Amino acid sequence: MKHYKIAVLAGDGIGPEITQEAIKVLKVIEERNAVKFELAPALFGACAYFETGDAFPQATQDICDQADAILKGPIGLSHEQSKQIPIDKQPERGALLPMRRRYNTYANFRPVSLPKSLAHFSPLKPEIIGEGIDLVIVRELVGGLYFGDKEMGVNDKGLRYVRETLEYDEEQIRRIMHEAFKLARKRRKLLHNIHKSNVLKSSVLWNEVMEEVALEYPDVEVVNFLVDAAATALCLKPTQFDVMVMENMFGDILSDQGGGILGSLGLMPSACIGPDVAYYEPSHGSAPDIAGKNIANPYSMIGSVAMMLENSFDMEREAKNVWAAMQGVFADGYSTADLSRPGSGVTMISTVEFGDKVVEKLRQMPKV
Ligand code: IPM
Ligand code: MG
Repeated sequence: MKHYKIAVLAGDGIGPEITQEAIKVLKVIEERNAVKFELAPALFGACAYFETGDAFPQATQDICDQADAILKGPIGLSHEQSKQIPIDKQPERGALLPMRRRYNTYANFRPVSLPKSLAHFSPLKPEIIGEGIDLVIVRELVGGLYFGDKEMGVNDKGLRYVRETLEYDEEQIRRIMHEAFKLARKRRKLLHNIHKSNVLKSSVLWNEVMEEVALEYPDVEVVNFLVDAAATALCLKPTQFDVMVMENMFGDILSDQGGGILGSLGLMPSACIGPDVAYYEPSHGSAPDIAGKNIANPYSMIGSVAMMLENSFDMEREAKNVWAAMQGVFADGYSTADLSRPGSGVTMISTVEFGDKVVEKLRQMPKV
Protein backbone atom coordinates (compact mmCIF):
# COMPACT_ATOMS: atom_id res chain seq x y z
CA MET A 1 0.00 0.00 0.00
CA LYS A 2 1.45 3.35 -1.03
CA HIS A 3 1.09 6.17 1.46
CA TYR A 4 1.14 9.85 0.56
CA LYS A 5 0.76 12.94 2.68
CA ILE A 6 -1.16 15.79 1.05
CA ALA A 7 -1.24 19.28 2.55
CA VAL A 8 -4.74 20.60 1.88
CA LEU A 9 -5.02 24.39 1.82
CA ALA A 10 -8.68 25.11 1.15
CA GLY A 11 -8.11 28.87 0.91
CA ASP A 12 -10.70 31.62 0.74
CA GLY A 13 -14.04 32.35 -0.91
CA ILE A 14 -15.24 29.31 -2.86
CA GLY A 15 -12.02 27.47 -1.88
CA PRO A 16 -13.47 25.34 0.94
CA GLU A 17 -16.51 24.24 -1.12
CA ILE A 18 -14.56 23.13 -4.15
CA THR A 19 -11.87 21.54 -1.97
CA GLN A 20 -14.56 19.39 -0.35
CA GLU A 21 -15.43 17.97 -3.76
CA ALA A 22 -11.77 17.35 -4.59
CA ILE A 23 -11.42 15.43 -1.32
CA LYS A 24 -14.40 13.24 -2.26
CA VAL A 25 -12.56 12.30 -5.43
CA LEU A 26 -9.36 11.50 -3.51
CA LYS A 27 -11.38 9.17 -1.26
CA VAL A 28 -12.69 7.28 -4.28
CA ILE A 29 -9.17 6.98 -5.66
CA GLU A 30 -8.22 5.37 -2.34
CA GLU A 31 -11.13 2.91 -2.63
CA ARG A 32 -10.02 1.92 -6.11
CA ASN A 33 -6.28 1.62 -5.56
CA ALA A 34 -3.74 0.36 -3.08
CA VAL A 35 -3.07 3.88 -1.90
CA LYS A 36 -3.67 5.88 1.25
CA PHE A 37 -3.78 9.66 1.25
CA GLU A 38 -3.14 11.30 4.59
CA LEU A 39 -4.76 14.71 4.33
CA ALA A 40 -3.24 17.50 6.40
CA PRO A 41 -5.47 20.59 6.32
CA ALA A 42 -3.84 23.96 6.97
CA LEU A 43 -4.75 27.64 6.91
CA PHE A 44 -3.58 29.64 3.92
CA GLY A 45 -4.64 33.01 2.52
CA ALA A 46 -6.93 35.63 4.03
CA CYS A 47 -8.45 33.07 6.41
CA ALA A 48 -4.97 32.43 7.79
CA TYR A 49 -4.26 36.13 8.08
CA PHE A 50 -7.42 36.80 10.10
CA GLU A 51 -6.74 33.86 12.39
CA THR A 52 -2.98 34.23 12.89
CA GLY A 53 -1.91 37.60 11.46
CA ASP A 54 0.01 35.81 8.71
CA ALA A 55 -1.38 34.61 5.37
CA PHE A 56 1.18 31.76 5.19
CA PRO A 57 1.77 30.93 8.85
CA GLN A 58 4.74 28.91 10.06
CA ALA A 59 2.47 25.99 11.02
CA THR A 60 1.24 25.80 7.42
CA GLN A 61 4.76 26.02 6.07
CA ASP A 62 5.74 23.09 8.29
CA ILE A 63 2.82 20.99 7.07
CA CYS A 64 3.65 21.81 3.44
CA ASP A 65 7.35 21.04 3.99
CA GLN A 66 6.47 17.56 5.17
CA ALA A 67 3.91 16.79 2.46
CA ASP A 68 4.40 14.73 -0.68
CA ALA A 69 2.20 17.18 -2.55
CA ILE A 70 0.14 20.27 -1.82
CA LEU A 71 -3.43 20.81 -2.92
CA LYS A 72 -4.28 24.47 -2.75
CA GLY A 73 -7.61 26.20 -3.21
CA PRO A 74 -7.98 29.75 -4.49
CA ILE A 75 -7.18 32.60 -2.13
CA GLY A 76 -7.98 36.28 -1.88
CA LEU A 77 -10.70 38.72 -0.94
CA SER A 78 -12.78 41.18 -2.91
CA HIS A 79 -10.97 44.34 -4.00
CA GLU A 80 -12.66 46.30 -1.21
CA GLN A 81 -12.12 43.72 1.54
CA SER A 82 -8.46 43.39 0.61
CA LYS A 83 -7.93 46.93 1.79
CA GLN A 84 -8.45 45.76 5.41
CA ILE A 85 -5.11 43.95 5.16
CA PRO A 86 -1.74 45.69 4.83
CA ILE A 87 -0.49 45.41 1.24
CA ASP A 88 2.36 43.02 1.93
CA LYS A 89 0.21 40.71 4.04
CA GLN A 90 -2.59 40.40 1.50
CA PRO A 91 -3.03 36.76 0.51
CA GLU A 92 -1.48 37.06 -2.95
CA ARG A 93 1.68 38.85 -1.81
CA GLY A 94 1.66 37.37 1.70
CA ALA A 95 0.93 33.72 0.91
CA LEU A 96 0.83 32.74 -2.75
CA LEU A 97 4.04 34.36 -3.94
CA PRO A 98 5.95 33.20 -0.83
CA MET A 99 4.69 29.67 -1.50
CA ARG A 100 5.94 29.82 -5.08
CA ARG A 101 9.25 31.22 -3.89
CA ARG A 102 9.65 28.76 -1.01
CA TYR A 103 9.22 25.71 -3.22
CA ASN A 104 10.74 27.30 -6.31
CA THR A 105 7.82 26.06 -8.38
CA TYR A 106 9.10 27.51 -11.61
CA ALA A 107 7.09 25.38 -14.00
CA ASN A 108 3.38 26.08 -14.14
CA PHE A 109 1.27 23.91 -16.45
CA ARG A 110 -2.18 25.21 -17.35
CA PRO A 111 -4.16 22.96 -19.66
CA VAL A 112 -6.79 24.70 -21.78
CA SER A 113 -8.88 21.82 -22.90
CA LEU A 114 -12.38 21.43 -24.31
CA PRO A 115 -13.41 18.35 -26.25
CA LYS A 116 -15.63 18.88 -29.26
CA SER A 117 -18.57 17.41 -27.34
CA LEU A 118 -18.39 20.36 -24.93
CA ALA A 119 -17.98 23.02 -27.60
CA HIS A 120 -21.32 24.53 -26.58
CA PHE A 121 -19.70 25.86 -23.38
CA SER A 122 -17.34 28.06 -25.37
CA PRO A 123 -18.23 31.55 -26.55
CA LEU A 124 -16.34 30.71 -29.77
CA LYS A 125 -18.20 29.53 -32.85
CA PRO A 126 -18.23 25.75 -33.54
CA GLU A 127 -16.26 26.24 -36.76
CA ILE A 128 -13.47 27.88 -34.75
CA ILE A 129 -13.43 25.08 -32.19
CA GLY A 130 -13.36 22.39 -34.87
CA GLU A 131 -12.32 19.09 -33.34
CA GLY A 132 -11.88 20.72 -29.92
CA ILE A 133 -9.40 22.89 -28.03
CA ASP A 134 -6.47 21.13 -26.42
CA LEU A 135 -3.43 23.20 -25.54
CA VAL A 136 -1.19 23.70 -22.54
CA ILE A 137 0.18 27.00 -21.34
CA VAL A 138 3.60 26.54 -19.76
CA ARG A 139 4.15 29.58 -17.58
CA GLU A 140 7.42 30.48 -15.86
CA LEU A 141 6.22 31.01 -12.30
CA VAL A 142 8.99 32.35 -10.10
CA GLY A 143 10.65 35.11 -12.09
CA GLY A 144 9.91 38.28 -14.00
CA LEU A 145 7.90 41.21 -12.74
CA TYR A 146 6.29 39.18 -9.99
CA PHE A 147 9.56 38.67 -8.16
CA GLY A 148 11.76 41.54 -9.33
CA ASP A 149 12.83 44.42 -7.08
CA LYS A 150 10.06 46.87 -6.35
CA GLU A 151 10.12 50.37 -5.04
CA MET A 152 7.40 52.91 -4.28
CA GLY A 153 8.04 56.44 -3.15
CA VAL A 154 8.12 60.11 -3.99
CA ASN A 155 10.59 61.29 -6.61
CA ASP A 156 12.63 64.52 -6.67
CA LYS A 157 9.75 66.28 -8.46
CA GLY A 158 7.55 65.45 -5.47
CA LEU A 159 5.53 62.95 -7.49
CA ARG A 160 4.55 59.50 -6.25
CA TYR A 161 6.27 56.89 -8.38
CA VAL A 162 6.68 53.17 -8.62
CA ARG A 163 9.35 50.95 -10.14
CA GLU A 164 9.15 47.20 -10.72
CA THR A 165 11.85 45.12 -12.33
CA LEU A 166 11.53 42.39 -14.91
CA GLU A 167 14.56 40.21 -14.46
CA TYR A 168 15.52 36.77 -15.77
CA ASP A 169 18.84 35.02 -15.97
CA GLU A 170 19.61 32.46 -18.62
CA GLU A 171 19.32 29.53 -16.23
CA GLN A 172 15.77 30.50 -15.26
CA ILE A 173 14.83 30.65 -18.93
CA ARG A 174 16.64 27.45 -19.83
CA ARG A 175 14.92 25.31 -17.22
CA ILE A 176 11.39 26.36 -18.21
CA MET A 177 12.28 25.86 -21.87
CA HIS A 178 13.35 22.30 -21.16
CA GLU A 179 10.00 21.67 -19.45
CA ALA A 180 8.14 23.08 -22.44
CA PHE A 181 10.16 21.14 -25.02
CA LYS A 182 9.79 17.90 -23.06
CA LEU A 183 6.04 18.37 -22.93
CA ALA A 184 5.89 19.26 -26.63
CA ARG A 185 7.81 16.08 -27.39
CA LYS A 186 5.14 14.03 -25.59
CA ARG A 187 2.36 15.77 -27.52
CA ARG A 188 2.20 17.22 -31.05
CA LYS A 189 5.91 18.19 -31.18
CA LEU A 190 4.89 21.79 -31.69
CA LEU A 191 5.98 24.61 -29.40
CA HIS A 192 4.80 28.19 -29.61
CA ASN A 193 7.31 30.51 -27.99
CA ILE A 194 5.45 33.59 -26.76
CA HIS A 195 7.50 36.75 -26.40
CA LYS A 196 7.65 40.51 -26.93
CA SER A 197 11.16 40.89 -28.30
CA ASN A 198 10.22 43.87 -30.45
CA VAL A 199 10.06 45.91 -27.21
CA LEU A 200 11.38 44.00 -24.21
CA LYS A 201 15.03 43.08 -23.85
CA SER A 202 13.99 40.34 -21.46
CA SER A 203 12.32 38.72 -24.47
CA VAL A 204 15.48 39.10 -26.56
CA LEU A 205 17.40 37.01 -24.03
CA TRP A 206 14.41 34.67 -23.66
CA ASN A 207 14.46 33.96 -27.41
CA GLU A 208 18.23 33.57 -27.51
CA VAL A 209 18.13 30.91 -24.81
CA MET A 210 15.11 29.29 -26.46
CA GLU A 211 17.11 28.88 -29.68
CA GLU A 212 19.99 27.26 -27.80
CA VAL A 213 17.70 24.83 -26.02
CA ALA A 214 15.85 24.07 -29.27
CA LEU A 215 19.03 22.51 -30.66
CA GLU A 216 18.54 19.67 -28.17
CA TYR A 217 15.01 19.03 -29.49
CA PRO A 218 15.35 19.00 -33.28
CA ASP A 219 12.14 16.95 -33.54
CA VAL A 220 10.05 19.78 -32.04
CA GLU A 221 8.88 22.55 -34.36
CA VAL A 222 9.14 26.02 -32.82
CA VAL A 223 6.85 28.87 -33.81
CA ASN A 224 7.67 32.32 -32.44
CA PHE A 225 4.66 34.45 -31.60
CA LEU A 226 4.40 37.94 -30.17
CA VAL A 227 2.28 37.93 -27.04
CA ASP A 228 -0.24 40.47 -28.30
CA ALA A 229 -0.73 38.56 -31.53
CA ALA A 230 -1.07 35.36 -29.49
CA ALA A 231 -3.97 36.92 -27.58
CA THR A 232 -5.83 37.47 -30.83
CA ALA A 233 -4.88 34.08 -32.24
CA LEU A 234 -6.21 32.34 -29.13
CA CYS A 235 -9.65 33.67 -30.05
CA LEU A 236 -9.46 33.34 -33.81
CA LYS A 237 -7.67 30.02 -34.19
CA PRO A 238 -6.93 28.32 -30.86
CA THR A 239 -6.52 24.93 -32.51
CA GLN A 240 -3.19 26.01 -34.03
CA PHE A 241 -1.63 25.85 -30.55
CA ASP A 242 -0.47 22.82 -28.65
CA VAL A 243 2.20 23.82 -26.12
CA MET A 244 2.80 27.52 -25.49
CA VAL A 245 5.69 28.69 -23.33
CA MET A 246 5.97 32.16 -21.82
CA GLU A 247 7.26 34.26 -18.95
CA ASN A 248 5.34 34.81 -15.75
CA MET A 249 3.18 37.87 -16.46
CA PHE A 250 2.32 36.86 -20.03
CA GLY A 251 1.30 33.46 -18.67
CA ASP A 252 -0.93 35.01 -16.03
CA ILE A 253 -2.84 36.96 -18.63
CA LEU A 254 -3.03 34.44 -21.46
CA SER A 255 -4.07 31.63 -19.13
CA ASP A 256 -7.09 33.62 -18.01
CA GLN A 257 -7.87 34.15 -21.66
CA GLY A 258 -7.63 30.38 -21.97
CA GLY A 259 -10.47 30.13 -19.45
CA GLY A 260 -12.37 32.69 -21.49
CA ILE A 261 -12.22 30.69 -24.71
CA LEU A 262 -13.37 27.56 -22.88
CA GLY A 263 -16.35 29.40 -21.43
CA SER A 264 -15.33 29.63 -17.78
CA LEU A 265 -12.29 30.11 -15.60
CA GLY A 266 -13.79 27.26 -13.60
CA LEU A 267 -12.35 24.93 -16.24
CA MET A 268 -8.73 25.86 -15.50
CA PRO A 269 -6.75 23.57 -13.17
CA SER A 270 -2.99 23.83 -12.86
CA ALA A 271 0.20 22.19 -11.65
CA CYS A 272 3.08 24.20 -10.19
CA ILE A 273 6.22 22.11 -10.20
CA GLY A 274 9.50 22.78 -8.46
CA PRO A 275 12.65 20.69 -8.10
CA ASP A 276 11.41 18.93 -4.95
CA VAL A 277 7.87 20.05 -4.24
CA ALA A 278 4.79 20.48 -6.40
CA TYR A 279 1.54 22.14 -5.59
CA TYR A 280 -1.72 22.03 -7.48
CA GLU A 281 -4.26 24.81 -7.70
CA PRO A 282 -7.06 26.20 -9.84
CA SER A 283 -5.83 29.06 -12.04
CA HIS A 284 -8.73 31.23 -10.96
CA GLY A 285 -9.45 33.39 -7.92
CA SER A 286 -11.63 32.79 -4.88
CA ALA A 287 -14.82 34.33 -6.38
CA PRO A 288 -16.00 35.88 -3.08
CA ASP A 289 -19.25 37.02 -4.75
CA ILE A 290 -20.49 33.43 -5.10
CA ALA A 291 -18.81 31.91 -2.04
CA GLY A 292 -20.92 29.72 0.24
CA LYS A 293 -23.76 29.40 -2.27
CA ASN A 294 -22.98 25.88 -3.46
CA ILE A 295 -22.87 27.07 -7.07
CA ALA A 296 -19.13 27.21 -7.81
CA ASN A 297 -17.68 24.85 -10.38
CA PRO A 298 -15.27 22.38 -8.71
CA TYR A 299 -13.83 21.21 -12.06
CA SER A 300 -10.58 23.17 -11.72
CA MET A 301 -10.01 21.82 -8.21
CA ILE A 302 -10.81 18.22 -9.17
CA GLY A 303 -8.71 18.69 -12.31
CA SER A 304 -5.86 19.83 -10.07
CA VAL A 305 -6.24 16.53 -8.21
CA ALA A 306 -5.98 14.72 -11.54
CA MET A 307 -2.76 16.60 -12.28
CA MET A 308 -1.46 15.68 -8.83
CA LEU A 309 -2.23 11.99 -9.37
CA GLU A 310 -0.31 12.05 -12.63
CA ASN A 311 2.66 14.22 -11.67
CA SER A 312 3.24 13.49 -8.01
CA PHE A 313 1.94 9.93 -7.59
CA ASP A 314 2.53 8.32 -11.00
CA MET A 315 -1.16 7.44 -11.30
CA GLU A 316 -1.62 8.46 -14.89
CA ARG A 317 -4.44 6.01 -15.60
CA GLU A 318 -6.52 7.21 -12.65
CA ALA A 319 -5.82 10.81 -13.64
CA LYS A 320 -7.29 10.08 -17.06
CA ASN A 321 -10.30 8.48 -15.37
CA VAL A 322 -10.89 11.62 -13.31
CA TRP A 323 -10.85 13.80 -16.45
CA ALA A 324 -13.16 11.35 -18.21
CA ALA A 325 -15.55 11.29 -15.23
CA MET A 326 -15.84 15.07 -15.22
CA GLN A 327 -16.31 15.25 -18.96
CA GLY A 328 -18.88 12.47 -18.68
CA VAL A 329 -20.93 14.56 -16.26
CA PHE A 330 -20.91 17.45 -18.74
CA ALA A 331 -21.68 15.12 -21.62
CA ASP A 332 -24.74 13.84 -19.71
CA GLY A 333 -26.09 17.38 -19.97
CA TYR A 334 -25.22 18.73 -16.52
CA SER A 335 -23.15 21.70 -15.55
CA THR A 336 -22.63 24.22 -12.80
CA ALA A 337 -24.05 27.74 -13.05
CA ASP A 338 -20.98 29.28 -14.70
CA LEU A 339 -21.56 27.14 -17.78
CA SER A 340 -25.35 26.95 -17.89
CA ARG A 341 -26.27 29.70 -20.30
CA PRO A 342 -29.97 30.37 -20.80
CA GLY A 343 -31.24 28.31 -23.70
CA SER A 344 -28.20 26.01 -23.70
CA GLY A 345 -30.41 23.09 -22.66
CA VAL A 346 -28.10 21.98 -19.88
CA THR A 347 -29.39 21.07 -16.43
CA MET A 348 -27.83 23.22 -13.77
CA ILE A 349 -26.38 21.38 -10.78
CA SER A 350 -24.71 22.53 -7.57
CA THR A 351 -21.10 22.22 -6.51
CA VAL A 352 -21.91 19.21 -4.33
CA GLU A 353 -24.02 17.54 -7.02
CA PHE A 354 -21.22 17.95 -9.54
CA GLY A 355 -18.79 16.27 -7.11
CA ASP A 356 -21.30 13.48 -6.41
CA LYS A 357 -21.78 12.80 -10.09
CA VAL A 358 -18.05 12.70 -10.73
CA VAL A 359 -17.65 10.23 -7.89
CA GLU A 360 -20.48 8.09 -9.24
CA LYS A 361 -18.89 7.98 -12.70
CA LEU A 362 -15.49 7.18 -11.26
CA ARG A 363 -16.87 4.28 -9.25
CA GLN A 364 -18.32 2.79 -12.43
CA MET A 365 -14.99 2.83 -14.25
CA PRO A 366 -12.97 -0.37 -14.49
CA LYS A 367 -10.20 -0.43 -11.90
CA VAL A 368 -6.69 -0.08 -13.20
C1 IPM B 1 -2.81 33.07 -11.01
C2 IPM B 1 -3.34 34.17 -10.16
C3 IPM B 1 -2.20 34.73 -9.32
C4 IPM B 1 -1.13 35.23 -10.25
C5 IPM B 1 -2.65 35.83 -8.32
C6 IPM B 1 -3.73 35.33 -7.39
C7 IPM B 1 -1.50 36.39 -7.56
O1 IPM B 1 -3.94 35.14 -10.92
O2 IPM B 1 -2.31 32.06 -10.44
O3 IPM B 1 -2.88 33.19 -12.23
O4 IPM B 1 -1.21 36.37 -10.70
O5 IPM B 1 -0.21 34.46 -10.54
MG1 MG C 1 -4.01 34.71 -12.94
